Amino acid sequence: MRVLGIETSCDETGLAVYDTEAGLLAEALHSQVDLHAAYGGVVPELASRDHIRRLLPLLEQVLREADIRRDQLDGVAYTAGPGLVGALMVGAAFGRSLAWALGIPALGVHHMEGHLLAPMLEPDPPAYPFVALLVSGGHTQLVDVTGIGQYRLLGESLDDAAGEAFDKTAKLLGLPYPGGPQLAKLAESGDPARFTFPRPMTDRPGLDFSFSGLKTRVLVEVQRLGDELDATTRADIARAFEEAVVETLVIKCERALTESTRERLVIAGGVSANRRLRAELETRLARIGATVFYARPALCTDNGAMIAYAGACRLAAGQHADLTVEARARWPLDSLSALESSA
Ligand code: KG4
Ligand code: ZN
Repeated sequence: MRVLGIETSCDETGLAVYDTEAGLLAEALHSQVDLHAAYGGVVPELASRDHIRRLLPLLEQVLREADIRRDQLDGVAYTAGPGLVGALMVGAAFGRSLAWALGIPALGVHHMEGHLLAPMLEPDPPAYPFVALLVSGGHTQLVDVTGIGQYRLLGESLDDAAGEAFDKTAKLLGLPYPGGPQLAKLAESGDPARFTFPRPMTDRPGLDFSFSGLKTRVLVEVQRLGDELDATTRADIARAFEEAVVETLVIKCERALTESTRERLVIAGGVSANRRLRAELETRLARIGATVFYARPALCTDNGAMIAYAGACRLAAGQHADLTVEARARWPLDSLSALESSA
């Protein structure tokens, strides 16, 4: 079965064709970073308008790359939420209408399920069951996964998401949007011994997170330093911040694996592209006999391939939606229907 995946939940227009027999046939992505950079963050109305401009040319591009015609598609999967509702509406209306015109089934995919399943596109995918750490710009969640759609929430952030904390802290350090990857780059040259920030909520039981206090600690430090905030100091702060977030995530992942007696951890979402997080998890999980799985960086951040894959799994199992154009700003991950065959 060949499925077109469409991702438009935020500031990236991503399209891909996934074949349940042959794998990923083509993918294309347009990032709106340049469009929003001047505003220091995503402007929802501009995001929606740009998705409208990009969708058709990207569709032509992926069909060309996959070397297929439109009528050789067997299904369409589009991100139906969570995300910016205007941006979601663009991809949803486009995907739903295209499927209707072609007389093929369509399905609205949960954006975080897309992220969670992205490592399945890699050559050595994890087997079920596993614990998933979902770390993106909008979510930080630990989930026990026994199959597709079989998700039990173990813990989540009570305030800022990990990616959001990276982005806000990057802004405080004067880095341009989107700050997460830039902060990580700056941290590479930082001295890890100069500053130490707290590891929030690790001194008490439980698997929830809180990252907003960490950002405030950086703010206080930046204000205290005033004119002394030179390039070296900014790198040192970035390093200490990154270490605090990574260490907090690692502690909670170890705890989740121990408590659930799972041996595999999947990390997904934009922050799972972070090199220090990957390296630290690899070392620490090896000590408890567990393995960490993640996707290549381009499949960690928003992309069409993960939506094509998640949609293909569900469409191939016979699931599809009616003619409604589905777009939900909020959508709990654990409300999804289970796919019996995946476990
Ligand atoms: O999954 P994603 O592309 O979009 C959402 O669904 O939110 O995640 C984007 C988030 C942003 O907050 C971005 O700063 C963060 O992921 N991010 C990173 C890195 N790459 C992306 N954070 C830390 N280190 C990175 N290398
Ligand atoms: Zn995302």
